[in-house]
Amino acid sequence: DKGNHRHFMEKEIYEQPEVISHALSHYVDFASNTISANAAAIDFKAATGLAISACGTAYLAGLVGKYWFELYARLPVEIDVASEFRYREMPLSPTQAALFISQSGETADTLASLRYCKDNGLKIGAVVNVRESTIARESDAIFPIMAGPEIGVASTKAFTCQLAVLASLALGAGKARGLIDTAQEKEFVRHLAEMPRIMSRVLNEIQPQMESLSRELSKCRDVLYLGRGTSFPLAMEGALKLKEISYIHAEGYAAGELKHGPIALIDENMPVIVIAPYDRFFEKTVSNMQEVAARGGRIIFITDEAGAAASKLPTMATIVLPNVDEIIAPMIFSLPIQLLAYHTAVFMGTDVDQPRNLAKSVTVE
Ligand code: M6R
Repeated sequence: DKGNHRHFMEKEIYEQPEVISHALSHYVDFASNTISANAAAIDFKAATGLAISACGTAYLAGLVGKYWFELYARLPVEIDVASEFRYREMPLSPTQAALFISQSGETADTLASLRYCKDNGLKIGAVVNVRESTIARESDAIFPIMAGPEIGVASTKAFTCQLAVLASLALGAGKARGLIDTAQEKEFVRHLAEMPRIMSRVLNEIQPQMESLSRELSKCRDVLYLGRGTSFPLAMEGALKLKEISYIHAEGYAAGELKHGPIALIDENMPVIVIAPYDRFFEKTVSNMQEVAARGGRIIFITDEAGAAASKLPTMATIVLPNVDEIIAPMIFSLPIQLLAYHTAVFMGTDVDQPRNLAKSVTVE
């Protein structure tokens, strides 16, 4: 049932504040300000490293997770798309742990990667939406994302719930490894607790601007997304979302890679969507944006209040989100990305919930 919404995708985008709050309550105890993300089967404290694998949007959630596990838990992460991971014959040690991320829990390549790790003696964690799935069944620990059924082929709420779970796990691992003290834990919990409310506010506030911008985007043949740090996987996720439902060609690039190739494409016909919260990467990303502007590129700047105040570059549009802590920024910055893709597809009249050539669950290689 789509409720008041035109498409399941729209409904699922607007469900995010609610489902993410379910997801968080499974991993965070808001009464005692503690992150209780632990599973007896996986010892993040003793682990010497983490292997992560997944496909598509779930892979991009894993890539954000890599930044978090390395930053907050000092756990080195090896990550690859499952279709490569399963065949790479990479050397693994039983002292590493492994995480597989899958909404459906049935993706063939992800399952094969899981079995490869199992054969190598690693303990397996499954970050899944469907708890009765094959991937969940074959794992030592299940980390449910609690997003509820996701019907739209384009993953939206599963992505942000995957992020919320991975953030909790990375912080839980950091705590177990003695890198996050009680005061810091309390601060993280405070930021996570605020997230659902901020998401609701952002969804309501940016909707009209996303709708009008989508008219511009629908005229384009190509779109480039740029980001640094955790905004780099978000740039790739923005591009994936746009291409899969609107059929507009889009690429997500690490902002620093611009001058190593894609800058040759910049002209007034290819909008560049820059994702840049005011974090420690901001100045660097803005200097890349400057390179785009200097070549006549049109910029759609997705930033926060501090970022909007700090940059004076002319843009085609600036989307201003509230200033939020670094730990929740990826979830908040996912929202304009999803809405832009959604409205562009609606404007172009494509089958948003069931895009051509795609299946919700890819159970064959
Ligand atoms: O069910 P899974 O999470 O394993 O599916 C992985 C991908 O097939 C999926 O995320 C796909 O990329 C989505 N259509 C993206 O919106």
